[in-house]
Amino acid sequence: MKMNTLLLVLGITCLHVTVGFKSFKPLSYIQLPTSLNSNSEVFGGLDLKASEGAAYDPVNSILYVIGSTSHLMHAIDIIDPANPVRLFKHRFTIGEGVPQAIDVCRGEIAVALSAQTDTNEGHVRFYRTYTRGSGATDVVQIGYVAVGSHPQDIKYTPDCRRVVVTNEGSAGKDEGGAYIDPEGSVTIIEDERTGNPSVQQVDFLKYNVEQPNFDMRIRTPSLYIPKSVYNGDTTVAQDLEPERITISSDGRTAWVTLQENNAIASVDIRNGTVTSVIPLPRKNWQNIGVDVSDRDGGVHRRTYPGLQSLRQPGAIAEFEIGSTKFLVTADAGGIKQYTAAQHGFTWSDSAVAKTIAAQIANANLKINASDDEFLGRLLISTVDGKNAFTGLYSHLEMFGGRGFSIWDTNNPAAPVYDTDGTHEIYMEGFYKPVFNTDYVKATAAYTSPEMNRDFASEFQGAHVSAIDVANDNGTVLLVAGTWSYWHVVSVHGGHEYRSACPTV
Ligand SMILES: *[C@@H]1O[C@H](CO)[C@@H](O)[C@H](O)[C@H]1NC(C)=O
Ligand SMILES: *[C@@H]1O[C@H](CO)[C@@H](O)[C@H](O)[C@H]1NC(C)=O
Ligand SMILES: *[C@@H]1O[C@H](CO)[C@@H](O)[C@H](O)[C@H]1NC(C)=O
Repeated sequence: MKMNTLLLVLGITCLHVTVGFKSFKPLSYIQLPTSLNSNSEVFGGLDLKASEGAAYDPVNSILYVIGSTSHLMHAIDIIDPANPVRLFKHRFTIGEGVPQAIDVCRGEIAVALSAQTDTNEGHVRFYRTYTRGSGATDVVQIGYVAVGSHPQDIKYTPDCRRVVVTNEGSAGKDEGGAYIDPEGSVTIIEDERTGNPSVQQVDFLKYNVEQPNFDMRIRTPSLYIPKSVYNGDTTVAQDLEPERITISSDGRTAWVTLQENNAIASVDIRNGTVTSVIPLPRKNWQNIGVDVSDRDGGVHRRTYPGLQSLRQPGAIAEFEIGSTKFLVTADAGGIKQYTAAQHGFTWSDSAVAKTIAAQIANANLKINASDDEFLGRLLISTVDGKNAFTGLYSHLEMFGGRGFSIWDTNNPAAPVYDTDGTHEIYMEGFYKPVFNTDYVKATAAYTSPEMNRDFASEFQGAHVSAIDVANDNGTVLLVAGTWSYWHVVSVHGGHEYRSACPTV
């Protein structure tokens, strides 16, 4: 039976994994507006972030969903999940900024908003949750706090006393149109409910060059911008871009992904300090089949000596087995792209392999990098894998681990589990019409995930963009959302489930 080929052996506490199969079917669907035209809702349009983030209030069975381009927060009653009901929407003013992330904890909603000028400081706004049966038609704001530039994620500690915010501090233009790269940071807000919150701003200055924690293994792509392109200096603290957060069950530690930097930071929540920045090991694809071309006429999982990848996790979740804390990371990958419109100059830390093939040291790798059917179309890093003296590539590093990995927080030198090439094997076996599909861009002439199949092969492949942990009556389930399908794995010896339909 085909199912036997799905056997996964997780190197954690389990010794055997029995494999099962379960289909998920969608219960309901609700479309949200992408903008408001005077007061009427405008629907439709692709990639417009009508739902950028969501948080659930289990007390009242209400789902809150924020839309960044719409500047809206929707309160959706899902007491009957098969029949969701939109109760009301809250409109953020232009001055309040662009909603980027949301969380809910015991009667309180926290929304992180970036400034209208993205490089300015952002804010967190707090609201009281809607009470079932109250007849309210909006939420009531109970306070707000300034945070760093471009807040990207927000999470309450389990006791709801503190809120942790990642401030990505992405580069861009300031109000005067000058290039600026704000420092990445983390904000910890404590006791917001008392009306007199204490705010700790956590920075990464001690990781700067010549500072005590400087570590040249941490990837810092924007320090490679040539002077001929941008004649200024960038510090490590400016280059570090905190992305997503997960918090330990004791509420003491926040782990924060630094996606472009291929690293994870751990933050002590009580004293507001970065305790470590862990550079993640590269993933070696020498013995793992992978499809890296959209010009190879179908699905071809091939192996390439000299091919590695940066894991570059975005989403992250923590779970515990016994007293051991594990992290599961969605190794999506992330390039840096500077444009004249947004930054005032053009540069990227990536290139299509074919365009740099002449600079590859190994003859066989050079031949395959020159061929569109093999590595030629692949997007690779131009700041990794290069010999600093000869300027030649000793190997190629692509963006993203094309799956997820699990880390023991006591020993993060290597993952305890990696999906290797599993996602592509599943897609080929079960979701071939959406194999390595690209999400549908607003400008694309293509209109469906099926029409975009194989488009992501030369980019980030099986792009895991969401990850979470659920406890199903004592069994830890990891749920990963790719651009093509949902992947569910039970961690200690349980079952492996896959969804019945694509999630694109
Ligand atoms: C903060 O707490 C951590 C332990 O979690 C400790 O290692 C660190 O030294 C403390 N830092 C400060 C500034 O107190
Ligand atoms: C290019 O890659 C293919 C697929 O792995 C392999 O069969 C072939 O030998 C490689 N070509 C060279 C010149 O190494
Ligand atoms: C949860 O697990 C316990 C012990 O294994 C079992 O007795 C109980 O029936 C389970 N509950 C559900 C809802 O499956």
